[in-house]
Amino acid sequence: SHYEFYDQPHPVGVSTIPQQYSVFMAFDLTLATAQDLQVLLARWSAAIDQLMQGNSIGQVEPEHEQSVATDTGEALGLGPNNLTVTVGFGPGMFDGRFGLAAKRPKKLAKLPKFSSDRLDPAVCDGDISLQACADDPQVAYHAIRDLARMARGSATTKWTVMGFGKASAQGGQETPRNLLGYKDGTRNVSTDPDHEKFVWVGDDDVAWMRGGTYQISRKIQMFIEIWDADRVSDQNEVFGRFKVSGAPLSGHAEFDTPDFHAKGADGDPVIPVNSHVALSAPENNGGVKILRRPYNYTDGINSDGQLDAGLHFLAYVNDPQHFITLQDRLGASDMLNEYIAHRGSAIFAVPPNPARGSFIGRELFG
Ligand code: HEM
Repeated sequence: SHYEFYDQPHPVGVSTIPQQYSVFMAFDLTLATAQDLQVLLARWSAAIDQLMQGNSIGQVEPEHEQSVATDTGEALGLGPNNLTVTVGFGPGMFDGRFGLAAKRPKKLAKLPKFSSDRLDPAVCDGDISLQACADDPQVAYHAIRDLARMARGSATTKWTVMGFGKASAQGGQETPRNLLGYKDGTRNVSTDPDHEKFVWVGDDDVAWMRGGTYQISRKIQMFIEIWDADRVSDQNEVFGRFKVSGAPLSGHAEFDTPDFHAKGADGDPVIPVNSHVALSAPENNGGVKILRRPYNYTDGINSDGQLDAGLHFLAYVNDPQHFITLQDRLGASDMLNEYIAHRGSAIFAVPPNPARGSFIGRELFG
C-alpha cells in the first residue's frame, strides 16, 4: 500500500502510523539564489511523489547509451512499502541568504543548550532535512540516496541517522521497544484533537506553516554495556514502568494511568519523582504533550569496542517551547541520564504538503 504526497492536510510522516525503518539526512545549502532553491524544492517534490507511489524517478537503464541513469535502481520491484518523505526547513534557510528572513516561522530557532548536552557538532543542525520512513529499509535508503543525488551542486550532506526499528506507536499499533528493552510510545499524542492542540501549527504563526509542524531531532547515544549490567528492579525505577508488561509501577497493565501520588510501604512515591515518566508526564508539566516518533539506531561499535547505539528521538510540536520545557527537566534530573548522552540536536520547520501541481515550500517565494 502507499501514501499520497499531494493534497494532504498535513505533512506526511508525522501522524502517519510509524513505519518500521527510517533514514534521516540533513543538508547544508550551497546554492546561491532563491530561484535555485525553488528549483531544488520543485524537483524534490516531483521525485518524492513518484517514490511514494513505488515508482522510479526516471530511467534506470537509459535508452541513450551515453547517458547516466536518473534512478539508481536498487528499489526496482520492491513496491512503495508505505514510504513517506518528510521535508524540514532549518533556521539557516531563513538567515537572509535567500531573501526569506521575513518568512521565517515564528518559533524556528536553534535549540538552547541543555545541562546534560554532550553534543557533537558533526551530527547537529542543518539547513534542510529529509526523512524517509518505510517498511523496507532499502526503499527508505533508496529514496534518500536518490534525493541526495538530485541535490548535488545545490546542497552538501551534513549528517545522517539510519533507524532500523521504530520505537513509537500510533493508531492502536502494538507498542514496540527501544534498545533499553522498554516499551516506547505507550502514552503518546495519538488522537485528532491532541494533534490539533499540540502538533499542527495554527493561525498564530506565519501563514505558510499552517497545518505544518516543528520537528525536533535528538540523536541520543545509549551506554548499552552499563545499562545491561544494571538490575532490572533499578531499570524499572529509572523509567517508572515495568520492563515486560510496560505497566506503570503504580499499576498492573500497560495502559493503566500512572498514579504519581501512590506511596509505597517506605512512604516514598511508587513511581520515583526523578523517573523518566514522572518528569515528562503531562500531569506534572501543566498538561504539555509532544508527539514522539523515534527510531532505534546503531552506528556499529565505537573505537573502544563498545556497542554504539541509541535512540534517534524525533518529536513534533506546534511550539518548540513544549519540548524545551520537558528537556530542561529531564536534562537536570532524569535517572536515565546515567545511561544516555545527547549527541545530536537539530530543529526544522515542516510545512504542509503541496497541492498537486505545486511544490513543497512554494508559498515562500513571491
Ligand atoms: C515516555 C524512553 C527520551 C519524553 C517514555 C517511556 C519510555 C521512554 C520507555 C515510557 C513509555 C511511554 O509512555 O512511551 C525514552 C528513552 C529516551 C527518551 C530510552 C532516550 C534515549 C526522551 C526525551 C523526551 C522524552 C528526550 C522529551 C524531551 C517522554 C514523554 C513520555 C516518555 C513525554 C511520556 C510520559 C507520560 O506521559 O507518561 N520514554 N525516552 N523522552 N518520554 Fe521518553
